[in-house]
Amino acid sequence: MMIRSCKIKEVTICLPKYSAIFLLLVVSVFIIMLHHIDVLKNKVSSTIFTQRVSTDTSVHQAVCTYQPLSTEDAVEASLLLDSIAWPETPPSPAPVSLEQTSDPAHSTFTILPRKGGGQWHVGDHLEVMIKIYDFKGNPRKSGGDFLIARLHNRKLSAGVAGQVVDHLNGSYSAVFSLLWEGDAQVEVTLVHCNEAIKVLQRVTNEQSDRVFFKSLFRSGSQSDATVCNVCLPPKNQPLCNYTDLHTGEPWFCYKPKKLSCDARINHSFGGYRENITAAEKKLFQSNINLKVSVQASGPASVTVLPEKTGQSEVKNSVVKSGPSGYYYQGVWQSLGGTTVHQFSTPSDITQCLKGKVVHLYGDSTIRQWYQYLNATVPDLKEFNLHSLKQAGPFMALDYANNIMLTFRCHGPPIRFGHVPISDLRYITNELDGVTGGTNTVVVIGIWSHFSTFPIETYIRRLQNIRRAVVRLLDRASDTRVIIRTANPKALTLYETLTNSDWYSLQRDKVLRAMFKGLNIHLVDAWEMVLAHHLPNNLHPQPPIIKNMIDVLLTYICPQKGS
Ligand SMILES: *[C@@H]1O[C@H](CO)[C@@H](O)[C@H](O)[C@H]1NC(C)=O
Ligand SMILES: *[C@@H]1O[C@H](CO)[C@@H](O)[C@H](O)[C@H]1NC(C)=O
Ligand SMILES: *[C@@H]1O[C@H](CO)[C@@H](O)[C@H](O)[C@H]1NC(C)=O
Ligand SMILES: *[C@@H]1O[C@H](CO)[C@@H](O)[C@H](O)[C@H]1NC(C)=O
Ligand SMILES: *[C@@H]1O[C@H](CO)[C@@H](O)[C@H](O)[C@H]1NC(C)=O
Repeated sequence: MMIRSCKIKEVTICLPKYSAIFLLLVVSVFIIMLHHIDVLKNKVSSTIFTQRVSTDTSVHQAVCTYQPLSTEDAVEASLLLDSIAWPETPPSPAPVSLEQTSDPAHSTFTILPRKGGGQWHVGDHLEVMIKIYDFKGNPRKSGGDFLIARLHNRKLSAGVAGQVVDHLNGSYSAVFSLLWEGDAQVEVTLVHCNEAIKVLQRVTNEQSDRVFFKSLFRSGSQSDATVCNVCLPPKNQPLCNYTDLHTGEPWFCYKPKKLSCDARINHSFGGYRENITAAEKKLFQSNINLKVSVQASGPASVTVLPEKTGQSEVKNSVVKSGPSGYYYQGVWQSLGGTTVHQFSTPSDITQCLKGKVVHLYGDSTIRQWYQYLNATVPDLKEFNLHSLKQAGPFMALDYANNIMLTFRCHGPPIRFGHVPISDLRYITNELDGVTGGTNTVVVIGIWSHFSTFPIETYIRRLQNIRRAVVRLLDRASDTRVIIRTANPKALTLYETLTNSDWYSLQRDKVLRAMFKGLNIHLVDAWEMVLAHHLPNNLHPQPPIIKNMIDVLLTYICPQKGS
C-alpha cells in the first residue's frame, strides 16, 4: 500500500489541470476511435495521462490519481463543465479595488409593468430589472455577479424563488411566478460580486487542499497523526494510498514515520488554511457586500388579483425552468404535478413507512432528516450503536410496524470529527449492498463537503453513485430513490471560502443534470430554503425540515389520485 510520492511514475495528475485532462481525454479518444473504431468498447483502456507539475511555485500542486474516465463519462464531464461555466468578466486590477466592485447599497431593482398592461393576476409572471452600481455609484458594465431573488408575503407565509438572468452588462432580470392572491414583495440579494467569484475560483484552482483532514494511526503503544486528502501536495514523505478499489475514489494520507499504512484507525477534519490577500478579504464583508439585499428604486411589492378565468394556469403549466414549488400558509406546494401530502401526525408517518426500510446516505443535511423522524415518530426507537453524534451510523426500528430507518455518512472527503476507518463507506458501495424492492427507500444527499475541491471531484463521485443507482433500479425497479439537492446557507468569510453558496449552486446544477431522466425523485432543498422566510441556513430550521419530510413521504407514499 505504501508508495513514495517521488517514485510515482504511472499517473500523476495535478488537480488544477483537470479541464485540460478532460480535453486531452476527449481528443485522444477521438484519435483512438479513428484508428481502432472496432476495438473501442466504450472504455479508455488503461490510457495513461501524465501531466507535468507546473513550475509556477505559487501554485499549490497536489498529487493524486484518478482512473481514466470512460468516453461517455469524459464527454459528460466536459459538457457539465460547459453548462456551469460562469460568465467571463474583464480582469480585475491587482490588488482588486473594493470601490470598483458591486455595492448592494448603490444598486437598485425596479418592478417592470405587466406585459400587456393592467393589474397583476395569479398566473402572471412578474419581471424585475436589477441595476448594479459600484461603491462610487458608477453603473457596472459587466455581469458575473451572483444574485438570488425571492417573492414573498410574510402574513400569508408565502414565498417563491425567482429566476435570475444575467444580461452581462451590469443589469440582471429576476422573473417570478405569481402564485397567490394578495401582496407579493420582491427581495433581491447580492451574494457575491464577480470579483469575489474570481477569488473563489482561484482558491479552488490553487488551494484545493485548503480544507484538509487527518487520520490517527496506532499500533501497540505507538500512535501518530498525519494529514490526508483527496490529493496531497508532494512532500519528501511517503504516501499511503487508500484509493477505493471498487469505485476508484482516491484518498491519500502521508505515511507516519514509524507506523504502517494499515495502522490507520480514524479519520477527522484536520483544519483549514486561509490564504487570500487583505484586498480580497474586503470582497466578503457581511452587511456590506456578502449576501446583502438590494433595495427597490420604487415600490418593492405588487398586489396580485385572483386568476383571470380562461387564462392558462401557472400551477399546471410547465414553465421552462420555472419554480419547482412555493410556500403558501407555510406549506410547500409542488408545481411539478405532485400534490404534497401533509403527514401531520406521527401515525400518518408510521402508516406511510409501515413495512419499509429507509436508508439515508449523505452529509449532515441528510442526518437532519434521520433526526427529525427519530424525534417525531414515537414508535421508532433508536437502537444504540454507540456511534459518534456527527458521523453515525444510526439505526431506528419500529418492531410493531416493521420499519427500519438508517443513516450513514458518505465517504471522504467528509469534515466530521473522528470517524472510525471501518465506518468510512462510499455511497456507491453501500448501494451495491442494497437488495432493493418495493419496500426499500434510498435517500441520498451529498454536496456540502465537496465545495473546496475542483468540481471534477464531485462529478466523478456522482457518476459513481449514479452507476450504483442505475444498477439498483435495474435489479429492483420498484425501489424508491430520492435525492436531496444542495441549499443556500448563512455566509461569513470562513463559510464562504469553505462552502459558499456559489460553490453549492454549481454543485447543485451538476447534481440535477446527473440524475435527470432516471426514475428518481428530487427534493428541491435549494428552492425550499430560498423561498422560506426563515434565514438561509446550512441546516434548515424545523419548519423547513417538516416540509422536506412531507415531500419525501409524498414520494414514498403517493396518494391515490395525486
Ligand atoms: C499563499 O498564497 C500565495 C500565492 O498563491 C503563495 O505564494 C503562498 O505560499 C501561500 N501561503 C501559504 C502559507 O500557503
Ligand atoms: C443590458 O441588457 C439588457 C438586455 O439586453 C437591456 O434590456 C438593458 O437595457 C441593458 N442595459 C444597459 C445599461 O445597457
Ligand atoms: C493508488 O491506488 C490505486 C488503486 O490501486 C491505483 O490505481 C493508483 O495508481 C494509486 N495511486 C498512486 C499515486 O500510486
Ligand atoms: C434519537 O432519539 C433518541 C430518543 O429521543 C435520542 O436519544 C437520540 O439521540 C436520537 N438520535 C439522534 C442521532 O439524534
Ligand atoms: C480518533 O483520534 C482522536 C485523536 O486524534 C482520538 O481522540 C479519538 O478518540 C479517536 N477515536 C477513535 C474512535 O479511536
